[in-house]
Order: sequence, then C-alpha cells, then structure tokens
Amino acid sequence: MTTLSDLSDKERNERFDRLQERMRGYWQIMGRNEEGESVVVIPSVSLDRVGERSGSLQQAYEERYLFLLLLLRHPRLRMIYVTSMPIAPQIVEYYLALLPGVIPSHARARLSLISVGDASPRSLSQKLLDRPRLLSLIRSLVPNPLRSHMVPYNTTPLERDIALELGIPMYGADPRFFPLGTKSGCRELFADLGIRHPLGFENLRSIEDAVEALMRLREARPDVTKALVKLNEGVSGEGNATVDLRELPAPESPGEREEIATRLHQMEFERPDTPFSSYAAKLAERGGIVEELITGEEVRSPSVQLRVTPFEEVELLSTHDQVLGGPSGQSYLGCSFPADFEYAKMISADAQLIGERLAHEGVLGRFAIDFVVVRSNDGSWTPYAIELNLRKGGTTHPFLTLQFLTDGRYDPNTAQFFTPSSREKHLIATDHLESSKFRGLTLDDLFDIVARHGLHFDPARQQGIVFHMISCLTELGRIGLTAVGDTPASAKAMYQKAERILLDEARESLAERPLLT
Ligand SMILES: Nc1ncnc2c1ncn2[C@@H]1O[C@H](COP(=O)(O)OP(=O)(O)O)[C@@H](O)[C@H]1O
Ligand SMILES: [Mg+2]
Repeated sequence: MTTLSDLSDKERNERFDRLQERMRGYWQIMGRNEEGESVVVIPSVSLDRVGERSGSLQQAYEERYLFLLLLLRHPRLRMIYVTSMPIAPQIVEYYLALLPGVIPSHARARLSLISVGDASPRSLSQKLLDRPRLLSLIRSLVPNPLRSHMVPYNTTPLERDIALELGIPMYGADPRFFPLGTKSGCRELFADLGIRHPLGFENLRSIEDAVEALMRLREARPDVTKALVKLNEGVSGEGNATVDLRELPAPESPGEREEIATRLHQMEFERPDTPFSSYAAKLAERGGIVEELITGEEVRSPSVQLRVTPFEEVELLSTHDQVLGGPSGQSYLGCSFPADFEYAKMISADAQLIGERLAHEGVLGRFAIDFVVVRSNDGSWTPYAIELNLRKGGTTHPFLTLQFLTDGRYDPNTAQFFTPSSREKHLIATDHLESSKFRGLTLDDLFDIVARHGLHFDPARQQGIVFHMISCLTELGRIGLTAVGDTPASAKAMYQKAERILLDEARESLAERPLLT
C-alpha cells in the first residue's frame, strides 16, 4: 500500500483536489441533523513566526477555538477536537454549559478529545504528522468519511497532509493559494483589482532592496514621513517595523541612499526584542514589502470577514474594528463588532470584489481583509486595503461565539447584527486581558469568580461574558474574553466590569496568600 510519504507534492495535490470535491456533498447535509455527520477540529497555528511561542501559549491558542463545541447543539453531530496537551475538564464543561437547549452529558458523549501529549512549541499539525498511530485513532473516530470534514486554523501543506491521512476534505483555502495571503501577494491582488492601498513596493528580498524601495517611495511622494517594512508572512504586527523618513536629504540628492540605509538599521520593530540580523535574514528567506504609513487626524483599522462556499458563493460574514496595541499600535489585541457603519459598507464593497476574485480562483473557506480608514476634514472616510489573511483570524472566535449563542445574523447592508427576535447585538473581545496578578488565580479560582459575580453569558437576555484562552491564565497571567451587549456601550460596560472584577479578585487572592517565613 502506498503511504503519503511515498507521494510527491504534485501527487498529494492531485489527491487533495479529489478529496476536496467531497466538500460539496458535505455542505448539503451540514447542519441537517442527519446521522453520521462529524467535524474534526485541528486548531494548529502553523505560522512561521519571528519569535517562538511557549508551549502553553500555543495550547491556549489551540483552545481559542473551543467555542466550536457549541456546534454540538446539533443533536447528531460528532466532534473530534485535537490539541497538543489535554484540555482541563472544567474548561470543556464551561463551554458545554453554554449550549442553549442541550443536555451537557449528551453533548459530551458526542465529543472526542484527543491530545498528543507534546507540549513543545512546534505546530500541532507537525506533531500529528509525526505520529501515524494517533492519526489512525482519529480516523477510526470518524463515523462516516463522506459526512465529515476537517476544520483547520490556517492551511499549509501540513494541514493538507493531515486531511489526506484522515481521508476527509478540509474547509479552508488550498495551501497552493498561500502566496495570495502574503504581504506581497495581497498588494499585487489589490493593485490588479484597482482597490486603493498604500503606495509601496513588494517582493523585496534584502535590506538593499528595501533601501531602493524607500528611495522610490520618496521619489513618488516626497512628503512621506514614515514607512513600514513588513515581512511577507508576519502576523499580529510581529513582522512589521517603522522607518522614520523625516529630515532626510531631498529625494535623489547625494547621500540619500546612505542616510536611508542608516534609518533602516534604526527602524522600530513592532516586536521590540527582534534582532536586526534575524529580521534581515527572514526578509531574505521569505521576502517582504515597503509601504507608506497612512496617517491622519483619525485613523482606524477595521476588517471584513468573508467566506467562499464549496459552491463558489461569496458570503460577507462580518465587519470588525480592530483594537491594536504594541509600540506603534500594530499588534492585534482584540476587536469590536460590528465596525462603525460610517465606513462598514465602503470596506465591504472592496472586500466583496476581492472575495469574488478569490472565489473565481478556487479559494474555499473563511478569510479576512484588513483596512486602514482615515477621516477627512469633511468627515468622510477614505479606506486603504492593508492585507488579506487567507485563514481564520482573531475576529473569528468572538463573532462565531456570538452567532452560535444567539442564532443571529449580520446584515451587510446595514452593518448591524440582529437575533431572531430582532434584538441588536454588539461585542467587544480581547485575546489579551493581561496582568501579572492573574498568575495568582487557578482555573478553579476563575470559575469561582465567574459564578459568584455572575460573569456568565445570560441566555435569557442574550448578553454577558464568554472567556477563552483560559488555560494560560495561571501560567502567563493572560486570558481572552468576548463581552456581548445590546449596544456598544453595554458591551463595553460588561467588558470593563469583567476586567475590574478579575483584577480585584486577583489582588485579593494574592493578599490572602500566607507569607512564607
Ligand atoms: N501602511 C499602513 N499605514 C497605516 N497603518 C498600517 C499600515 N500597515 C499596517 N498598519 C496598521 O498595522 C496593523 C497591522 O498591520 P498588518 O499589515 O495588518 O500586519 P499583521 O499581519 O501583523 O496584522 C494594521 O491593522 C494597521 O492598523
Ligand atoms: Mg493585520
């Protein structure tokens, strides 16, 4: 029998194409409550990052998608959820208890939790491919491969190979489209579609290329004050750096090149501990771009989420305003939903064009487009397309949590979300509620605080708090949450209440701890 390792990349792609054809059949039975339906969740974060993450943070990111357990409200669905390390039973119960109209033990019986038992910071997908017996076990848990599909986070050849090993299709973009989702690839796509995006240059391979690109940028726009250098595969701002272009010799004058080279060496990294030499090495290895920094009195960073179905239909799912932080405000911390209606429709129209092109190319699944919008003196907004994330993103889990809990829908025409009983809903979410004091709280402390202070999701009023990335609270002092309310103000109030209570309780638990003498 031929195994996957006997096949070339080309042969794997051919097999994968055949497997993916099954997505259409699956799509037609999905959610219909038919016998034999199953979902295999592989929440591997298979990204090439500049710095390494700890194994615990990696695990927390894998658990970020546990809201998918809410799918078990479909009474015949089976789910296989795979993680690097075992998930604490209390965390699983927490999600199952959120399920409206479901008996938690009934849902639990349909859930198989598989863990590798490998806490190293490598990607979950790599860990699985190294363990054929574990893959066989997962395969054996799928009741009917014709009624199953795999849900990844992002899609690389690793996830493709897991789908092939399991013999089930993958709901996500074929990894062959990977270049489209890089910083260079998406700039080319925006240009091709005539969508406004920052002035800049792509496919750079060295610091010398970046110097050249910055000179051309100044030539085209002599008043540019700052520019960004971005690594093709950077995420969460980690691959971005800001170059100060103020008070330089005039464009094309002697000494300009040397001055720009000096400024590049002094560029400010969004991830401050990045050594210049490793950044330059990554640029050479993976490529990157240079572009003008869009500035203005008021600048915001909204994003649009879309999906392409197996029938090539483009669906506009949601718009968000990103909450960013870090040294120059480029690191993703969280989001609010929906985006401000003043520009939501405008960016949605650009996103729709991009979605149609991707559908035409054969892309499947969820993706998101980031924009920067600038307000002019007359109050109008000008949008710039910034990047295409060809995967699930940081807004997927809060939005789907809201959707699964309320059964509501986002209307792209009004940029509003309504529940079936016509109540409007808003959310604010973070992946970064952080305090060193939180390290004083264990998992059981957290759930005790949640119960005593009513930091719950209230199904009757369809508002409240849902936590995520719970497992890293005690080690890293970090947790995520989604706060849902009827107005932006009520969602914000709920968010702030949760933050205040957690901080107060964490302080108390530290004070209560007897001193070691
Ligand atoms: N050219 C730009 N001008 C102004 N702000 C930008 C520009 N590029 C990126 N940003 C800001 O930085 C954030 C992160 O940049 P992005 O290119 O989306 O990288 P990442 O992949 O790390 O999310 C954006 O959401 C936006 O707020
Ligand atoms: Mg981004």
